[in-house]
Amino acid sequence: MSEEQAPPGIDPKIPSVARMYDYYLGGKDNFASDREAAERVIKLFPRARDIARENRAFLRKAVRLLARSGIEQFIDIGTGLPTAENVHQVALEASPDARVVYVDNDPIVLVHARALLADNPQTIVIEGDLRDPRAIIEHPGVRAHIDFGKPFAVILCAVVHFVEDDAEAAGIVAYLRDRLPPGGAMVLSHGFRGDRGSDSVDEAQKIYSQTRGALKMRDRETIVSYFSGLELVEPGVVQVEAWRPDFDYDIDPSAPGGLGGVGLVPRT
Ligand SMILES: C[S@@+](CC[C@H](N)C(=O)[O-])C[C@H]1O[C@@H](n2cnc3c(N)ncnc32)[C@H](O)[C@@H]1O
Repeated sequence: MSEEQAPPGIDPKIPSVARMYDYYLGGKDNFASDREAAERVIKLFPRARDIARENRAFLRKAVRLLARSGIEQFIDIGTGLPTAENVHQVALEASPDARVVYVDNDPIVLVHARALLADNPQTIVIEGDLRDPRAIIEHPGVRAHIDFGKPFAVILCAVVHFVEDDAEAAGIVAYLRDRLPPGGAMVLSHGFRGDRGSDSVDEAQKIYSQTRGALKMRDRETIVSYFSGLELVEPGVVQVEAWRPDFDYDIDPSAPGGLGGVGLVPRT
């Protein structure tokens, strides 16, 4: 996108995490500032593009698994710019009655999502901020679209790491997890600092601090703790490449990257 195409109210000189992610995935919905910031991250983490692609693959595989196992309702917080095989397409393919709510706080994501994702009456898009999860759950549109008495899944893929404060992030995840009924599910992936720590992680966080948001990559224990009280489906919380892989992969499980998992609320 050229800077002239920026919608009113958007400063194209300030990178956005959504457009940087779009750039990693090979999309075209990004400005020069996004590409420049993303390239600096790629220099630090040559695997950044692969991690983004694998994170997206993890999301698709997780949604397919849940839809095939009978979950028909999804609240996807931190939707991102539309790409190939978005949540509603994957869910609808597995379950024609699937209903999806997309939630994001980035104005450009909302414009694209409304144009491309809400192309189906079973899908809605709302503006919402993960840092106010109650407002998302109590949003009248969400209340009308999702039956909270029936199993639903909350999707938090590559978004909780944009909440910098550790206690706040844990509180948000716990709030959403506690709203899930028996048979409900949480799909979560998160930037991982690696088990040995790395200067590149701190440098990448500095780059993200110059965006509209901030990035906090966390340790394994913290990410695993987000699934507290849920039953983890196999293979648990692992590097996204290693979650039910379609292809052979060759990564160090302790290296910085992204950890992902799917947790189910036990049916009592
Ligand atoms: C890295 S993208 C991930 C997209 C998608 N979930 C995926 O995993 O492929 C992160 C998305 O979260 C959104 N986001 C960041 N902070 C947010 C917040 N506080 N509330 C809602 N959305 C947020 C960004 O605008 C962006 O669209």
